[in-house]
Amino acid sequence: MEQNELKQLVGNEAVKYVEDGMIVGLGSGSTVRYMVDALGKRVADEGLHITAVATSNFTANQAQSLGITVKDIDEIDQIDLTIDGADEISDDFQGIKGGGAAHLWEKIVAINSKKNMWIVDESKLVHQLGAFPLPLEVIPFGSTHVLAKLEQMGYHPSFRKDDNQQYVLTDEKNYIIDLHLGTIDDPFALAKVLNGIVGVVEHGLFLNVVDTVIVGTQNGPKALNK
Ligand code: A5P
Repeated sequence: MEQNELKQLVGNEAVKYVEDGMIVGLGSGSTVRYMVDALGKRVADEGLHITAVATSNFTANQAQSLGITVKDIDEIDQIDLTIDGADEISDDFQGIKGGGAAHLWEKIVAINSKKNMWIVDESKLVHQLGAFPLPLEVIPFGSTHVLAKLEQMGYHPSFRKDDNQQYVLTDEKNYIIDLHLGTIDDPFALAKVLNGIVGVVEHGLFLNVVDTVIVGTQNGPKALNK
């Protein structure tokens, strides 16, 4: 199976965990796109009644176009289950997210969820985090100074730009700075440092967040529980 087939496999598998009446958090990214398609199919075929909360405008639009009811996170109580992708997951279930510039809303949705499930193809499993650049969402005002500070700290930062060399904007109209770290020895210590930098709204380290990971392997989907 190719990577996209593995993504579709885990997307299809994840929606089996969605039950009638649930409030479901919908992540963002290419794997989640397959999952939302599969969820839309269950809503259409089975008349499944769910309320969704989306982690990006893209996902909200996709879900609505498939007939899934989408509410704002501030209109609902706790989310029952959030299903999201990830960029890297270490052996001890810590993760990096934000490759799609959506990690701020993703983290807000995740911490307001009773259960979090990540769906990934097996290339996302790593022994140690850090090969994938760690995204930071930063406020545009003063962001060149934030970049300079991160450079001084030895984190090898770069602004994320699109093919036309324009700053990538998040749904909150903020910028993304990616840290090219190579390896992260202590994600908790790094998170603490990044949380203390004025102008950084949120980093892409998702620590002690996920409960279940569904991995797409050549032998089928495999559920790993924390
Ligand atoms: C979005 O900002 C990310 O956190 C995604 O969930 C993550 O990048 C995984 O995306 P893919 O499924 O496209 O790899």
